[in-house]
Amino acid sequence: MFSENQWIKIKAPATVANMVCGFDILGFAVNSPYDEMEMKWTTRAENEARITIINIDNYNLPTDPEKNVAGAALIAFLEEYEEKQKSSSPKIKFEVKINKLIKPGSGVGSSAASSAGAVVGANYLVGNIFSKDDLVRFAMNGEKLASGVKHADNIAPCIFGGVTLVRSIFPLEIIALPSPTLHVTIVHPQIEVRTSDARSILRQQVLLKDAIKQWGNIAGLVAGLMKSDYDLIGRSLEDVIIEPVRSILIPGFDDLKLACKKAGALGGGISGSGPSIFMLSKTKEIAIAVEKEMKQLYDGIGLPHHTYVTSINQTGVEIIE
Ligand code: HSE
Repeated sequence: MFSENQWIKIKAPATVANMVCGFDILGFAVNSPYDEMEMKWTTRAENEARITIINIDNYNLPTDPEKNVAGAALIAFLEEYEEKQKSSSPKIKFEVKINKLIKPGSGVGSSAASSAGAVVGANYLVGNIFSKDDLVRFAMNGEKLASGVKHADNIAPCIFGGVTLVRSIFPLEIIALPSPTLHVTIVHPQIEVRTSDARSILRQQVLLKDAIKQWGNIAGLVAGLMKSDYDLIGRSLEDVIIEPVRSILIPGFDDLKLACKKAGALGGGISGSGPSIFMLSKTKEIAIAVEKEMKQLYDGIGLPHHTYVTSINQTGVEIIE
């Protein structure tokens, strides 16, 4: 166990889910933005609360653990932790301070960062007794609270770092994928797209011809990442199932994608359920040129936005004592 009543600091990275063609199964972590959290454990008296959440930012997110994504993840963590403990062991409680630097609802895994950061922090405090897969399982309860569905394509890269493939949720099987150096440009137009809404508009049936294209692209993307084949990665960043439906929610989407590709981007698309859009590039110079195109397009239509030029984060959630 880490010392009682001693705060640890946690850095939880933003993540890009789906990676265009891999809806609900592929994702990667980025080096910026990231959330900052602090956590400590103390011995709990019989009637005391097990989790206290303190918001440091101004987003006014719920502090009731059952309504907060970090809280929901920690409830699942503590249930299994207490089951593992002997009945004579002292009961513990967690205090969590959350400073969200990843804007909620931006489409770059804001809720996943809170849930994943909380369970990785909790595990560190109790002596790292759970595996990364266990932590993903706990953190998915936060995603369920946020979007109504347990999906791990943000949680897995947030905890593992790098690019991850969620081959299966039940039972959980996560595969960490290698990747060549990739530079990432993200634009976050300041509009709101709720994940639950972006999921509810999806068709429940797909045509076989679209499915064949899609699994060709997913396999091509995984092969491209493993072989460091940039052209194959670029060709495989195509989504014929989800993007045509969701892109109508994002102003200027098609023009922006075209302009970024002209500037040299390998490809990209909607980040998670949007509204952010991401592009992958081979060099930092291209990633900066891509950012310029994004800014130009959204300045042109008067849509306020934030951009990030970053790279793939290979470490996942980090603990800083
Ligand atoms: N795979 C999820 C979706 C990610 O696209 O709905 C949500 O962040």
